[in-house]
Parts: sequence; C-alpha cells; structure tokens
Amino acid sequence: MRLSEILAASLVLLEGHQASGSSAQKPFERSRDFTRPHAVRVNTQNIGKRETAPAFESLQDEWSAGVVGVQALRFEKSTAVAEICKKDVHNIESAAQLYQLQQSCRSIAGTLQISEFLDPVIDLGGLQNINGDLIIENLPEVVRIQGHNLVSVGGTFKIDSLTSLTSVYLPTLHHFDVMEWKVVPTLTSLSLAPNISHAKRVTISDTSLIGIDVLENIEDLEILNINNNRYMEYVKSNVKQVHEQLSISSNARELQVEMPALLWANNLTVRDVASISFPRLQHVNKSLEIIENYFESFEAPLLKTVGGTLGVIQNSRLARVDFSNVTTIQGGLMIANNSNIDKIDFLPELREIGGAIQFIGTFHDTEFPKLRLVRGSALVRSTSSTLDCSKWITPASGNSIIRGGRIMCTTGQSRNTARVSEDGKLLDHQETQFEIKPETSEKTNVASSVVNKSGIVNIGFALVFGWAAISICSAITR
Ligand SMILES: *[C@@H]1O[C@H](CO)[C@@H](O)[C@H](O)[C@H]1NC(C)=O
Ligand SMILES: *[C@@H]1O[C@H](CO)[C@@H](O)[C@H](O)[C@H]1NC(C)=O
Ligand SMILES: *[C@@H]1O[C@H](CO)[C@@H](O)[C@H](O)[C@H]1NC(C)=O
Ligand SMILES: *[C@@H]1O[C@H](CO)[C@@H](O)[C@H](O)[C@H]1NC(C)=O
Ligand SMILES: *[C@@H]1O[C@H](CO)[C@@H](O)[C@H](O)[C@H]1NC(C)=O
Repeated sequence: MRLSEILAASLVLLEGHQASGSSAQKPFERSRDFTRPHAVRVNTQNIGKRETAPAFESLQDEWSAGVVGVQALRFEKSTAVAEICKKDVHNIESAAQLYQLQQSCRSIAGTLQISEFLDPVIDLGGLQNINGDLIIENLPEVVRIQGHNLVSVGGTFKIDSLTSLTSVYLPTLHHFDVMEWKVVPTLTSLSLAPNISHAKRVTISDTSLIGIDVLENIEDLEILNINNNRYMEYVKSNVKQVHEQLSISSNARELQVEMPALLWANNLTVRDVASISFPRLQHVNKSLEIIENYFESFEAPLLKTVGGTLGVIQNSRLARVDFSNVTTIQGGLMIANNSNIDKIDFLPELREIGGAIQFIGTFHDTEFPKLRLVRGSALVRSTSSTLDCSKWITPASGNSIIRGGRIMCTTGQSRNTARVSEDGKLLDHQETQFEIKPETSEKTNVASSVVNKSGIVNIGFALVFGWAAISICSAITR
C-alpha cells in the first residue's frame, strides 16, 4: 500500500513533467494556464517579478528529490522503520538535521517543529507523510519552504512569522487538517497539489499572495478565514458547507470572491470586498455580516433564513441588494449607513425578526410587505424628511408588529418615540417636530452618531441578546 502511494505520487510527478515537457523551461507559467486545472495558481501572474527564474532549477530539484525518496524507501525496507521516525516531536534547528531526518524517514509518526533555522531554504526532501503537525515559526531567515514529496500532514500545518518567506512549493501536498498561515508578509508564491482532497480549517492571514484557489475540490470546511492579505485579488472556492466560520476581511480593495457552490455557513462575514455573490446560499445558521464593502450589488437570491443577526453596514456604494427569499431572521436586523440605499425594500418575503431592528442612514422609505412580527424593539433613524414613521408606530392593521416594547423613529423633521405592549398595543406615543433651522444640526447629529465600526459586533450581539432576554422574560411571565 505504501509502495502504491509512492507510485501514485511519482506518477503525478511524472505527469507534471510530461505536461510541461514541450516547454520544460517554464513549468510555473504553464501550470497557471492549462496544466493542472485546479492547481494553486497563486502569484504566477507576477512571474516577471521573481528575482530568479525557478523553472529549470526546480526541475532539477524535483528529480533529485525523487531520487531521495527512492533512497528513503530502500532504507526503510532494508532496516525496520528507524526508531527516529517514530519520535513524538522532532525539533529541527538546522538544515543538516532536516537532511538527516528526511534521509532516514519517509513518514514520521509525530510532529515536525522547525525553529531557530538559519538557512534560507527548508527542504523536506523525501518526506512524504507527517502524521502529527508541521510547525514552522519565527524564522526571519527562511525564504523558501519546499518538499517535493510531501503528501500529507495529519494535523496542523502552521507557518507563523516567517518575515522573509517568499515561496512555498509543496506540489503534492493534498491532505491536511488545519492550515494556519500568518505573518508571512512577503509570501508571493504558493504551490500545493492540484487536488487537495482533505482540509478542515484554513486560515491565511497577512501574506502577499494575490489569490487563493487551493480549495476548488473541497466541499466541506470548518473554517475559512482569509484576512489582511493586502494584495489578494481573488478567492475562489467550491466549498458547499462551512461548519464554523467563513470570514473574508481586510484584503486588497480589489478582492473578488467566488463561492458559486456555497449552500450554508454557520456564520459569515464579508468585509472590504470588491465583488462577491452567493448564488446558491440558503442558510446562515448564525450571523451574516456584510460590512464596509466596495460593491454596488450583493446577491443571495436563495437565502431563506439567518439564524442570528443580519447586518448590512457601511457599504458605501451598495445600491442593489437581493435577499428576495429571506423569510426569517432569528436575531436582529441592522441596516446602517449604506449611503446609496435610499429605500429599504429588499426583504420582500421577510415575515419575522427574532431580535430588534436598527435602520440608520439617508433612506427615505422602508417597505416590508410581509413582516408581521419583530420580537425586539425598533430604532429607525434617517436624515430624510420624507420618511414616514407612522408605518412603524401606528400601522394600518392596528397593532404594531414591534413587540419589544420601544419604537424610536427619527426623520429629518421629527422624532417619534412610542411604547408598545407585548401584543403590539400602542401604550403611548410622543412626537417632537424639529424646528426648521435646527433641522440641519439634527442632520449632522444623526450622521455623526452613526455606527462605530468596532461596535458593530457588539450591537449585533446586543440585538440577539435583547431577544434572548425578552424570550426568557416572556417564558417566565407565562
Ligand atoms: C492527489 O494527488 C496526490 C499526489 O499529488 C496523489 O497521491 C493522490 O492520490 C491524489 N488524490 C486524488 C483524489 O486524486
Ligand atoms: C463565528 O463562529 C465561530 C465558531 O462558532 C465563532 O468562533 C466566531 O466568534 C463567530 N463569529 C461571529 C462574528 O459571530
Ligand atoms: C446549518 O444549517 C443547515 C441547514 O439548515 C444544517 O444542515 C446544518 O446542520 C447547520 N449547521 C450547523 C453547524 O448547525
Ligand atoms: C426562492 O427559493 C425557491 C427554492 O427554495 C426558488 O424556487 C425560488 O425561485 C426562489 N425565489 C427567488 C425570487 O429567487
Ligand atoms: C457613514 O457613511 C458616511 C458616508 O459614506 C461616512 O462619511 C461616515 O464616515 C460613515 N460613518 C462612520 C461612523 O464611519
């Protein structure tokens, strides 16, 4: 079985060679264009910027690495698997130690930890499997990590604080549990196997990668978190389910995200993105946050339910929102400071909101034709003079749909506050007309008190929490 793995691995290597055979000089460029359809194509556009042409050099590397692998196999067959390969933790501190290890073992049972490594290249050579973790941390000298034969890392593959690292070349790596890469600010080139078949948690933070498409074959992830990659222009993934967290934030302003297959995510944060769409998204189990993005339109036409708070906040260009299928939001609903949204009418099917609502901005109308119940309170605040607060305070149907006790609705002309009973009866209502002149100062007030960026999450929690508290109270009173 091990032998067949080796064969499979070398076949893949061979295929790689054949595919790039006709112009063997440039396997990197070729792999970008047509050879591996699912290959990691990161940075290959920038090939002209590389200091050294990697092509021929790396072909030689591959051949020699293949030879090393075969030697390791012979070694393991001729002796019993060396004791050294069974150690729990290998602390590697030099290229010589690493060379020794990969000469002795094809697989290691434990964890490989590389620290205080002064050489520029970490070469995993003939190593194929690391059953534990692969931890590479705090190495300012290292510029390249390569391992031509590495197929799997059983646990966590961590790269943290390698401030000179520019390239990771692991062309057969297709299995790992956790990929946690952060503080690798000069990393521009990444090559993993074209067919990553197993990955659970992927965090890529603070790199110079221009794109991520390593995840095209993965359907299930627990975490996908891509943040602070300042040159990152695209993220492509065919993931269908994200069980814990899907978060994309603070990358390049040009970032385009493609997740055509996503069906549900536990919670979902989209921040600082230039374009994104979720054509198949149906559920978000917890919160969905769309914050400070640069797109003009956002579409999630099949989304039906949001299990927590839905927040659409400070997307300065956003004008078209498609939530045409959303029926239930179990947490709060917050739509704030999206300066191009002048009518909040993009939730035509919404029937019920489990938490509070907060609408803040310059919109002149709100329209929720099917909304029948808001369990929390309502805060509606717009600088527009034409906004009609009576919709929220004294709806045509009689009782208010707001059941959380308080309604505040402020427009350019007046401030309305009302209290309602648990079943929506209006208890009292006060309306304060602004004088003509102070209207402008009232306007600036509204604009300047608009959502503080860092408080958004807290407000989200407050909205949900308010609902929880209300449910508990009503349960107790019952
Ligand atoms: C993926 O590629 C590796 C080597 O690159 C190979 O060993 C493995 O069998 C391949 N897996 C699939 C599912 O094709
Ligand atoms: C999303 O879910 C994960 C895991 O459940 C949690 O750690 C994280 O704090 C959540 N994020 C937000 C913004 O709710
Ligand atoms: C999220 O919701 C989907 C669809 O309702 C469900 O299949 C999935 O099990 C839920 N996931 C979690 C982590 O609760
Ligand atoms: C809403 O979702 C259903 C499937 O659940 C689909 O048939 C329908 O076309 C969707 N509506 C819109 C407006 O996309
Ligand atoms: C609200 O949006 C306006 C217009 O885009 C912007 O100038 C203002 O800074 C935003 N508010 C906050 C608190 O960022």
